[in-house]
Amino acid sequence: MNRCGARASLGLCRQRLASSPTAAARLYSSATVKIEKTGEPVKVALIPSDGVGKEVVPEARRVLEAVEPHLPFAFSWETIEGLKGCDGALFGAVSSPSHKVEGYSSPIIGMRKALDLYANLRPVISAPIKPRLNLLTHCEQTSRPDIDMLIVRENTECLYVKKERMENGPQGRVAIADRVISEYASTRIAQMAFSQAERRAAVRAGSKRPARVTVVHKSNVLSVTDAETIFRHTVGLFRECALEVAKKYPHIEVEEQLVDSMVYKMILDPQRYDVVVAPNLYGDILSDAAAALVGGLGLAPSANVSDSFALCEPVHGSAPDIAGKGIVNPLATIRAAALLLRHLRGPHADAAAQMGDVIEEAVNRALAAGPLTPDMGGKASTTQVTDAVIEHLKSLLLNKH
Ligand SMILES: NC(=O)c1ccc[n+]([C@@H]2O[C@H](COP(=O)([O-])OP(=O)(O)OC[C@H]3O[C@@H](n4cnc5c(N)ncnc54)[C@H](O)[C@@H]3O)[C@@H](O)[C@H]2O)c1
Repeated sequence: MNRCGARASLGLCRQRLASSPTAAARLYSSATVKIEKTGEPVKVALIPSDGVGKEVVPEARRVLEAVEPHLPFAFSWETIEGLKGCDGALFGAVSSPSHKVEGYSSPIIGMRKALDLYANLRPVISAPIKPRLNLLTHCEQTSRPDIDMLIVRENTECLYVKKERMENGPQGRVAIADRVISEYASTRIAQMAFSQAERRAAVRAGSKRPARVTVVHKSNVLSVTDAETIFRHTVGLFRECALEVAKKYPHIEVEEQLVDSMVYKMILDPQRYDVVVAPNLYGDILSDAAAALVGGLGLAPSANVSDSFALCEPVHGSAPDIAGKGIVNPLATIRAAALLLRHLRGPHADAAAQMGDVIEEAVNRALAAGPLTPDMGGKASTTQVTDAVIEHLKSLLLNKH
């Protein structure tokens, strides 16, 4: 892995590229000398699913096809049926029923389980957008400056084990959900968070910004799962596992934050956070809230990763209120495609990761120059925004010759 590629999920290269307009092209041209295809094609499963997923995944595919001639490998597009034989996957979004449907299980949760995608990495990085009126919500859509945070969300357990039941109590029905926090899952997600913090620190070597992991829990209330209080010593599970892993990284600052005050502080002072690690539900809520700090759900990507596979997706859902209207913002999914390239393994990992950086740079340029979809205060269609990204890609990639 190259320096940038190894830190793929961190967005630090992206930030560096954004501050130097031609850096992306230089990085690309210096590292990718030949473009003839070698080896097997890279197999990518495209899983649009439903709602706006059907609109945004084909847009991300257009972007990947636009960069394919400049990569030393070809893509082979697969479907969910071939998922297990793939090198990575791009997922759109799926609508889930809001009430219990017997036998229903969300496919995204099923895929996370089947492929053991135990970590959900959500970069939260300032976007180069000026405050604009969002015509759909009549809110001002903007991005706060100087944010560069990575939320590392545990992806396999917590309330998402979906063990729910209804019981009859003396005062009527009681709905109960099991929340599972295991030592195994807590330790490996903490390991992921600290290794990501280490890589991010290496990328910004020389910077005064400390490498820091913030461990989020709710130990004051959930005393067993998040922390267990015994003889005034707090030694509980999620927190205990994270602090145990932290001992292997004495050069990384570690701090704890209760989830409620974490939301408050993150909104007040998002710039101070580096890597934030949280159990599944807290991570889910925190990362959606964090997306609002940097331009909204239309821009936020995420990567579900195991030690050998990445399934990338936009953070947003199927957005039924705008599905089929041709106005969904494709940039979150295009960024998810960039994340996918940054997480590919194998002989082409470096070239793929660098192309991920180039796509990020093209997205940033498109954001700064427009046109934009209505969620960002613009009037453009989904395809017009993708067209703009592809135009920026073309001019970035031209510099390689
Ligand atoms: N990973 C997933 O597949 C996933 C994630 C979240 C929600 N969902 C599902 O999606 C459905 C809708 O959920 P929701 O409304 O709470 O969340 P949502 O993310 O689909 O939409 C929330 C709001 O943001 C807007 N929005 C979202 N993405 C946008 C984009 N790219 N461009 C422009 N506007 C965008 C929507 O129009 C909507 O007003 C539900 O069935 C839910 O279960 C799926």
